[in-house]
Amino acid sequence: MSDPYVARYNAHMDQNALKLAAAKAAIAYVPIDTIIGVGSGSTVNLFIAELAKISHRIKAAVSSSEASTALLKQANIEVMTLNDAGFLSVYIDGADEITPHLAMIKGGGAALTREKIVAAASDKFVCIADQSKLVDVLGAFPLPVEVIPMARSYVARELVRLGGHPEWRMKDDKGVVTDNGNWILDVHGLVITNPVELESTINQIAGVVTNGLFARRGADVALLASIDGVKTLTR
Ligand code: 5RP
Repeated sequence: MSDPYVARYNAHMDQNALKLAAAKAAIAYVPIDTIIGVGSGSTVNLFIAELAKISHRIKAAVSSSEASTALLKQANIEVMTLNDAGFLSVYIDGADEITPHLAMIKGGGAALTREKIVAAASDKFVCIADQSKLVDVLGAFPLPVEVIPMARSYVARELVRLGGHPEWRMKDDKGVVTDNGNWILDVHGLVITNPVELESTINQIAGVVTNGLFARRGADVALLASIDGVKTLTR
C-alpha cells in the first residue's frame, strides 16, 4: 500500500521541479543592462536563484515584497526603489490562477498591492507557473483583497453583496499584516466571468487598497511548465 505522506511529498517535489523549469525559462526574457521587476512567491524564489547566476547582466531589480528583497540582496543583486528606478524593462512573477487570456488571480502571498504597482510600471509582464495554475474561469482560488484595517468589516459586507464569501486571512490567531501594514480578505465562491469589470468594481469599494485580479493589466507572456515541457502563451 502506498504511504500518503510519501505520495504528498512526491507530488510537492514534482510541482517544485515544474516551478523550477518555468523559472529557468524566464531568464531568456531578462534584457541585458536594464532594471527589472521581481515578484514574490515560491516560483519567484526559484527565479531569483537563477537570476543570481546572471546578476552581472542586469543593472538592478525592483522588488514587490520584503521577502523577495531579502533574497535578492542575499544574491548580491542591487535592489532599487521604484521611485529611483522609474522604467522597468520586464516584470517576472508567479500567479495563483491564470486564464488562456492571461488574466490572473494573485496575492496568495499577500504581496498583491506592490505586485500590481511594479507590474504597472513594467514594459512586459512575464508570468511563471506550473501548468496546474491554468484555468478557464478564475475564482476557485479565493480572491485576495487588501483592506485598510478599519474598513475590514465594511468591505466584507460589500463583498458579500457582490456574491462572495470573504474570510479574514489569519495566521497564529492574528490577522495577516501585509508589507503595507494592511489586512487581507480572501473571497471564496466567486465565479469570475468578467475579471476586468470585477477588478474595477472591487477597487471602487472604500477601504480597498487593491484586489488580486490582474486583468486590466494582465500578463503579456505566460511560461507554464508541465511534464511535457514549458508552454509559452502570449496575448
Ligand atoms: C504572491 C503571489 C504569488 O505570485 C502567487 O501566490 C503564486 O505563488 P507561488 O509561486 O508560490 O505558487 O501573488 O502574492
